[in-house]
Amino acid sequence: MKQLQQVLNNLLKCRSPQELIEEGSSSELKKTLNVFDLIILGIGAVVGTGIFTIIGSAIVGSADGAGAGSAVVISMILAAIASLFSALSYSEIASMIPVAGSAYTYTYATMGEFMAWMVGWILMLEYAIGNITVASAWTGYFVQFMKGFKHILPSFIVNWPLWLRNDYRTMYEICNRFGWDVHDKMPFLHLPFGWEVPVAINVPAIAIVLVLTVLLIKGIKESTKVATIMVGVNMFIILSFIVVGAFYIKPENWVPFAPNGWEGIFTGAFIIFFAYIGFDAVSTAAEETKNPQRDLPIAIMGTLLICTILYVAAALVLTGVVPHQWIDTQAPLAHAMRYIGMNWYAGLISVGALCALTSVLLIYQLGTTRILYAMSRDRFLPKALNTIHKKFKTPHVLTWVSGIVVVICALFMDLTISAELCNFGTFASFIIICIAVLILRKTEPDRPRPFKVPFCPWFPILGIVTCLALMYCKFSAKATSALYFIIWLIIGLLIYVLYGYREKRREEAEK
Ligand code: ALA
Repeated sequence: MKQLQQVLNNLLKCRSPQELIEEGSSSELKKTLNVFDLIILGIGAVVGTGIFTIIGSAIVGSADGAGAGSAVVISMILAAIASLFSALSYSEIASMIPVAGSAYTYTYATMGEFMAWMVGWILMLEYAIGNITVASAWTGYFVQFMKGFKHILPSFIVNWPLWLRNDYRTMYEICNRFGWDVHDKMPFLHLPFGWEVPVAINVPAIAIVLVLTVLLIKGIKESTKVATIMVGVNMFIILSFIVVGAFYIKPENWVPFAPNGWEGIFTGAFIIFFAYIGFDAVSTAAEETKNPQRDLPIAIMGTLLICTILYVAAALVLTGVVPHQWIDTQAPLAHAMRYIGMNWYAGLISVGALCALTSVLLIYQLGTTRILYAMSRDRFLPKALNTIHKKFKTPHVLTWVSGIVVVICALFMDLTISAELCNFGTFASFIIICIAVLILRKTEPDRPRPFKVPFCPWFPILGIVTCLALMYCKFSAKATSALYFIIWLIIGLLIYVLYGYREKRREEAEK
């Protein structure tokens, strides 16, 4: 009985916010980021697959349900409201405990060792697994982009074999769709075989992840410089889409405004939520920020506001230019430009999409390594992973590890499953953050809070309820990703039992 009590005490052991802050301020990471860098980081993490690709499915719908039609703007506002409650909670805690690790660190300060590990593990879904989705979408736009040069470049570069630009699951799906048998060894597929198993590798996705890994090792300031250029290009493309497209709006395309009623609007909100994921990445760079108490809340809320305005404007133009039943689900913005006869502009939009997806990839890789950095500093992962590069002052071992994990997973996972798993990870971490705000208000009432969630406890509670409702939707539909999410939790639990728990006790004994 006494032993059980001891185990329970260990599981609930919290780190005090003060201890975390002191550790963060003595960190070896360079403090170079200002509020502008953070907003760039935020927009770079948020604007990507959602607005360039997924908006099409939110309008038109998918096999899971009819979409919102022109009322996608309401879906977007609903998704923004769901994100707002969590953004406010992130802002309060990030300004109070400005250390690397995001939700993982905040959980350690409020819910104890076990929950902290589980949250860190869940965050890997949002960041690392989410990156698989973005890397796969990146390949799609890269192929589109290369096609624009079909008159200049040799055909073998423009028309890459399918097996060199798809993971094997997608390859199987393509073969199924067209009624081809992968085992037929059809010459036009050029599919190589290893031990009689057809091989397919998404080479562009793997290449871009490796290039970004090297960039991140060179330094966070250098990485945000690249992100700034990327964000600049994709902002310009979206803004010019809005301005140019506005001249081609036909108000009759907005009628009927909500062809599938509230059901369509909610389905659209669920899908388009993906477009808002990422603003929390700002808080993962807390230890590298010059004035985190002031800058983190401004950057988080600023990112959400800027993105919502851009999204709503782009959605109004898109649905005003193209009748909703004709909207493309692969590359909707580029297709809209083709629809009004501006083919060259469609090519330009592919460039903007590539920039947007590259910056999302870069920032998510950055987030993954900073969370893992905080976790290995706490001995949940081997300490050797935590080494900081002597010259570049970045956690280079962890950066390589997370890059290689994404590359390996990209060989086996497809875009849809990784996107849904990413959503599960995000909802779970948003819920935890809202709970953490409520706990800290009780346990640390006097600690200075440069930013406070208004209408507490109601706003955090609304955040929890909204995210739970969205997760429930997927669970009740018995989606494959819901099953994978549970398996992911069980694997995390096993790693903690077999490694983390013991290592933590060893750490205590050494003290
Ligand atoms: N919000 C990010 C995107 O849309 C994940 O790509």
